Amino acid sequence: MNKVAQPTIVVASNKEDAARCTADLIHETLRENPASVLGLATGGTPIGVYRLLVERFLAGELDFSAVTTFNLDEYIGLGPEHGQSYRYFMQQQLFDHVNVVREQTHVPNGLASDISRHVTEYEEQIQQAGGIDLQLLGIGNNGHIAFNEPGSAAASRTRKVDLTENTIEANSRFFESAEDVPRHAITMGIGTILESRRIVLMATGKAKAQVVQASLEGPADPVNPASLLQGHAGLTFVLDPESASELQL
Ligand code: PGA
Repeated sequence: MNKVAQPTIVVASNKEDAARCTADLIHETLRENPASVLGLATGGTPIGVYRLLVERFLAGELDFSAVTTFNLDEYIGLGPEHGQSYRYFMQQQLFDHVNVVREQTHVPNGLASDISRHVTEYEEQIQQAGGIDLQLLGIGNNGHIAFNEPGSAAASRTRKVDLTENTIEANSRFFESAEDVPRHAITMGIGTILESRRIVLMATGKAKAQVVQASLEGPADPVNPASLLQGHAGLTFVLDPESASELQL
């Protein structure tokens, strides 16, 4: 019988330490190959990671000049200048502060006129870049990874999706009101994410404890998309003590 790969679980001493551990994994990847392809995530969780990467770049420890990046997702209807678009987020948090080449940074285009063509091209661009070396992920309270909401198939590819009420509610903190949160998004699929050579899922805070437990110790089930990562040979969860607090093992 083949042994199923077990994830590496890192429980950092606190949220800041979790960001440091995650930044270290990215740092290591770039040290091994300065022309790495990074898959990047938005949301509150990775902000501390990007701050550290910028600090290390400014200290001369990191070089992004040969790096290619692909972001997980983008809201449909928001352009790069919109303060809540994920392209804007990435420029603000990372890209504007390091020497990455703008043309080598990819975020799905929320204003694409032909979305089905755009998502096919996004997949092709990932392939042409040689695939993703390290994919950074957050996790939603409902188990979503990127905008793959509960019910998403393990084989799903980059596509247009509807956001659930849970996600609209969770993300409304960034908008004036829940009504202003876009209802649709473009997301990499779970199948796309699973093709990454290394996956680093970072979670912090008590609110993520249950979903983290279910993702690592529950059954692999589309009801909890993050659980579909189980069995990936290069999977690491970086947690703080609060998000790890429901783990049984
Ligand atoms: P958060 O979002 O980092 O803002 O908690 C995570 C996610 O929804 O993937």
